[in-house]
Amino acid sequence: MSYQVLAVLTLCSSIFCANSFAGQVEKQTEKPVELAIIPKPVNQQLGQGRFNLSGKTRLFVNDAAALSNAGLLNDRLEQTLGFRLAVLQRLPGMSDGNYLLLKTESDAPNKVDHKQNQDESYALNINPHSIELKGTAAGQFYGMQTLLQMMPAKTSPVAHLRTVSIADTPRFSWRGMHLDVGRHMVSVEFIKKFLDQMAFYKMNTFHWHLTEDQGWRIEIKAYPKLTEVGAWRKETTLARHVEPYIGDGKPYGGFYTQEQIKEVVAYASARHITVVPEIELPGHAQAALAAYPELACTPGPFEVATNWGIFEDIFCPSEATFHFLENVLTEVMALFPGQYLHIGGDEVPKARWKKSALAQEVMRREGLKNEEELQSWFIRRIEKFINSKGKRLIGWDEILEGGLAPGATVMSWRGEDGGIAAARQGHDVIMSPTSHCYFDAGQGPKEQESWELGGELTIEKVYGYNPVPALLNSEVQHHIKGVQANIWTEYLSKPEMIEYMVYPRLLAMAEVAWTAQQGKDYASFEKRLEAHYPRLQKARLAYRIPRPTGLPAQVHATDKTHTLTLHSPVASSKMYYTVDGTVPDTSSARYIHPLVLAVKPGQDSLVQVLTVSPEGRHSAIQRSVISNTGAVQK
Ligand code: ACM
Repeated sequence: MSYQVLAVLTLCSSIFCANSFAGQVEKQTEKPVELAIIPKPVNQQLGQGRFNLSGKTRLFVNDAAALSNAGLLNDRLEQTLGFRLAVLQRLPGMSDGNYLLLKTESDAPNKVDHKQNQDESYALNINPHSIELKGTAAGQFYGMQTLLQMMPAKTSPVAHLRTVSIADTPRFSWRGMHLDVGRHMVSVEFIKKFLDQMAFYKMNTFHWHLTEDQGWRIEIKAYPKLTEVGAWRKETTLARHVEPYIGDGKPYGGFYTQEQIKEVVAYASARHITVVPEIELPGHAQAALAAYPELACTPGPFEVATNWGIFEDIFCPSEATFHFLENVLTEVMALFPGQYLHIGGDEVPKARWKKSALAQEVMRREGLKNEEELQSWFIRRIEKFINSKGKRLIGWDEILEGGLAPGATVMSWRGEDGGIAAARQGHDVIMSPTSHCYFDAGQGPKEQESWELGGELTIEKVYGYNPVPALLNSEVQHHIKGVQANIWTEYLSKPEMIEYMVYPRLLAMAEVAWTAQQGKDYASFEKRLEAHYPRLQKARLAYRIPRPTGLPAQVHATDKTHTLTLHSPVASSKMYYTVDGTVPDTSSARYIHPLVLAVKPGQDSLVQVLTVSPEGRHSAIQRSVISNTGAVQK
């Protein structure tokens, strides 16, 4: 397959073509095609001809923001094509053609529908003589990602870019990916690689879940024991789903220094990604209590949790706790320049507060009817403090219980109800329901997936998510600020496991977050996705190798023979199969031609397929049961 074919898909759905190319002149020599851009741009008009980008193409910039983007673009060009472009700031030289212009415009160049997000929109025009990319610093950056996605996935001295005019703008202003480093930690290098992919797919918010019962992962200078004690657990449970407890006997831990945090924040910021830190309170705090037991309602001692679940020892609502949290949050806020601070607020058992004389006294003093109201009071107090430092509070949807803090944004995870209730109360909402956004769920049937925490969430289901519930009336829909996928790492102890869960589902979530609902089309996405597997390979990501198309889980054959025509979405991969019940490996029959299976009434047969990607990675074994089927006719 040529590079260009990889980058530009030649098929498109008839609906897409009809809508997008209406108004094009009838007599065309080249058939209109859809560019393999993910997330799909709002508007793209393909032209005739190509722009040939080579090492001779000059890169013009009009200001410092464009210059900074030019540096990032050159880094990526060097990685993908193998060359950099000369950067020039004297625009008059452009009259000779063969240039790429990055032009910062303070206002959005293309005033499309989503007014609230105008500062992230861009206009990209590629004609045979030049490429012009205009937008704010962020918009320009997103236009660069579009441009990079049009480049060949492999090194090449020239990129033949299809001429096109794109006007693009995001649907949502919060396009998030979360990562839990409390249960299992990853390196700063891993996080940078994660941020690179987020940026490439135009995600703009990294929710960094930094504290947990099983580990406190952020250095706090005023409280060194948080990381001396709280960052380390004596072992980790081997059992899945909590019971029975079997420890692995291996100490586990680590944390990010403030210097490392600054490095991540700066790296993200250059890629127009805001890092939102999460410091869990009042629950999921056992690691902090192991370090500072005086902040609990009972004397302790506590240990950093070694198994998973919800723990009853939480912060007691004492003045000592508020003093501690205010000091911690002050250090945290100084490290993260974004407006939001995530305070958790989820899964807070009230058992300790119910029995605590101190907690009951606070309830009496403040006129609080129950422990839910005490939690609400706790969070309101924290919100007041955060607001006094110019920041905004966001929390999981449990913060609705007992009354929402006045300016809080709600992250709706237990379904959409919390988000709907919050929006109706006039609060901003990020949708992240477990049903569509929890990437620790398996990507296929449980028996075929190794590392899931529970449930099944296919890429198609992720793609189908519409974060604006139909139940919400139009006046309050604007409170839905975005959508986010979450990765909890209880069972993801190695970085490649996390990557397996994230890719390619991140690409589907990126399109949910960016592309307007009416522009979405799963068939189109699936085709565009095929062009992205080589990019995931090039980035050395341990993405999940998808099931071949043409291999339904269950087939009810009616004829004497049944034919399976398989296609792997991963180009140049090899498929091996068995029909005798043995597990296929690379010594099994290789799939080349359609499989013709003889069908005998009353017999089922099992077709098992292993896909091996070009870089040698093996898929999970993919199975299909053919009812009434006999042996394969070889
Ligand atoms: C959560 O998944 N406990 C927010």
